[in-house]
Amino acid sequence: MVSEQPVLVLRDVSIAYDSPAGPVQAVSHVNLELMPNTIVGLIGESGSGKSTLATGIMRLLRGGAHLTHGEILIKGQNVYDMDAKTLRKFRWEAMSMVFQSAMTVLNPVMTVEQQMVDVFLAHRPGMSKAEALQKSYALLDLVRIARKHGKSYPHELSGGMKQRIVIAIALALDPALVIMDEPTTALDVVVQRSILEQIQDLQQERHFAVLFISHDFSLVAELASRVAIMYAGRFVEVTESGGLTVSDQDHHPYTQGLMRAIPRLTHEDVVIEGIPGHPPDLVTLPTGCAYHPRCPYAVPLCTVERPEPRDWQGRLIACHRFDPQKAGEFSHVS
Ligand SMILES: Nc1ncnc2c1ncn2[C@@H]1O[C@H](COP(=O)(O)OP(=O)(O)O)[C@@H](O)[C@H]1O
Ligand SMILES: [Mg+2]
Repeated sequence: MVSEQPVLVLRDVSIAYDSPAGPVQAVSHVNLELMPNTIVGLIGESGSGKSTLATGIMRLLRGGAHLTHGEILIKGQNVYDMDAKTLRKFRWEAMSMVFQSAMTVLNPVMTVEQQMVDVFLAHRPGMSKAEALQKSYALLDLVRIARKHGKSYPHELSGGMKQRIVIAIALALDPALVIMDEPTTALDVVVQRSILEQIQDLQQERHFAVLFISHDFSLVAELASRVAIMYAGRFVEVTESGGLTVSDQDHHPYTQGLMRAIPRLTHEDVVIEGIPGHPPDLVTLPTGCAYHPRCPYAVPLCTVERPEPRDWQGRLIACHRFDPQKAGEFSHVS
């Protein structure tokens, strides 16, 4: 059997923004492998570095951000070593991205089908316009949008339809990896659900890999087979999503906090428990574990020494509580 190559490898990746106050460490030393035909989730509160990492993978960093450490490989090729031509080919054909807001992607003065046709013509120089149009219709079919809407302008369509079209365009050239950055956050719950189901169906049909970014734990746990949990630019846990339950204490304290932050239906009431406090300023991070000021389990060790991610029953967890050498410190909690 041929061993499968990961679609995406993040090797000790750090990304910082230049700012007058000093570098903003938006992503710090993250590691991840994404295999073909899998969905991996990336969760964290707003400001934890998710979008920075996503744009970093696409080599679309903006606002003074740059890769300061590590490597990003797509299908074995280093994204930051590619010349402009290879990179252009890689975007759309090997990797594509769906952003939160369809508004930022769709051109308001072009019809849907014009925009789709353009993607094909830009990447398939030999293709005729007629063929590109046929392929565009096939894409509309794929996301179950009536072909007549190809003649529409974005403003004539609902938010859900626009987001489906953006997803269709991302899939146009059959990329191996699709990064979805909060693709449904701007939509209402019913539309969110139908789009998620569609992403799932499409993924099973076309076998691309997805890095699915969200701040909604329940969404990600449902969709993804593995989940990376990000806090202040670091992965504090990488875990299988099967069996993630609120009662499970065997997770990073931040993961537990996020799980409890899910709106839960208990009898007739919806209970929402948030995590007290807020994420830290990335210029002046807390010493030790960045989560310690909010952590119900923090002990003095956590304020001085940053825990490294380590294997804990198949999960990667960066927490002293899960370090056999350090766990003794916690004997008086839990
Ligand atoms: N243009 C910028 N200049 C400086 N810092 C930025 C800029 N954009 C984002 N950041 C910093 O990077 C952090 C991570 O942002 P982002 O990647 O958008 O997080 P997320 O997607 O998880 O909400 C933010 O908390 C912010 O401090
Ligand atoms: Mg974001």
